[in-house]
Amino acid sequence: MTESSDLRMTSIPLNAGARHMPALGFGTLIPDLAITITATREALEAGFRHFDCAERYRNEREVGDALRAGLAAAGIAREDIFITTKLWNTNHRPERVAPAFEASLDRLGLKYLDLYLIHTPFAFQPGDEQDPRDQNGNVLYDRGVTLLETWSAMESLADRGRCRAIGLSDITLRELLPIYESARIKPAVIQVEAHPYLPETELLEFCEEKDIAFLAFAPLGHGIRPGPLEDPVILAIAARVGKTPAQVLLAWAVQRGTALLTTPTTAARARENLNISTLPEDAFDAINRIQTRQRFNEVVKTGSPGFIPQGR
Ligand SMILES: NC(=O)c1ccc[n+]([C@@H]2O[C@H](COP(=O)([O-])OP(=O)(O)OC[C@H]3O[C@@H](n4cnc5c(N)ncnc54)[C@H](OP(=O)(O)O)[C@@H]3O)[C@@H](O)[C@H]2O)c1
Repeated sequence: MTESSDLRMTSIPLNAGARHMPALGFGTLIPDLAITITATREALEAGFRHFDCAERYRNEREVGDALRAGLAAAGIAREDIFITTKLWNTNHRPERVAPAFEASLDRLGLKYLDLYLIHTPFAFQPGDEQDPRDQNGNVLYDRGVTLLETWSAMESLADRGRCRAIGLSDITLRELLPIYESARIKPAVIQVEAHPYLPETELLEFCEEKDIAFLAFAPLGHGIRPGPLEDPVILAIAARVGKTPAQVLLAWAVQRGTALLTTPTTAARARENLNISTLPEDAFDAINRIQTRQRFNEVVKTGSPGFIPQGR
């Protein structure tokens, strides 16, 4: 368990050399392009130094523009921020990996990436259509490539030095094991959904043992209500420690040794989500004892992204 009382500056060492990843990351899965620009800029101004992007989010250009303008205005160097993007499912064929990487770099306006992830372990039919489907609406998967072949192409990218670390997203322990065992370059990071309703304890323990950084997405349960933000245990701890439910959930995530991605879309929430500090041990333990189990995003099962609509 992390012991710092101010968790905001926590960073996680990566197995790829002497690099670190800021534990508090800002996610750019924001459908509206104008909000993408303002939210990214406000996150940088609030103090976020870790930004998570994806080819699939179709807004790398806007994120890149917002970051460039924000860095210049604040006099922050590129080296002082950590930027990730992800290879989409339609680009798993090895010959498509480097062009997809270059296209992302070009849209982001960057010379290098801190981290490049395989977005999901599912290969879709290669091509420009990000969501290829048959006449019945079924996803068209690509059976002509294995995840290990895609991983080898990622290793070649890492060899060339323009992405400093590589990893996987939306991966289960069962899928991660064979990659970990065969990889020449071990995954530095995995990114999966995690919060008190989906703690992924077994996967986290494996990552701790193998020196893989665990990066939690949807740490607030994607803001879905009912969900962790309204859980009675979280509400009671928030009232007791004088923090908001979001701050309690984010503190718990960092305290258990994970990095996280959150997506505040206002400046006030960006500041709120950075202002987190260590929870008392009994509060931390009480969150670990929450029994509710709920996954909010099915991408790990199909490769098709999307949070599951919830009724109130
Ligand atoms: N690898 C994958 O397949 C995958 C899948 C999903 C997400 N991700 C990544 O993870 C990032 C984070 O995921 P997420 O969007 O689910 O994160 P999240 O932070 O759990 O949820 C974001 C939602 O929480 C709300 N929120 C943010 N701060 C809040 C606060 N202080 N109090 C109350 N509500 C708050 C936001 O509302 P407002 O908009 O009103 O601020 C938004 O609706 C994404 O942007 C993306 O980069 C990856």
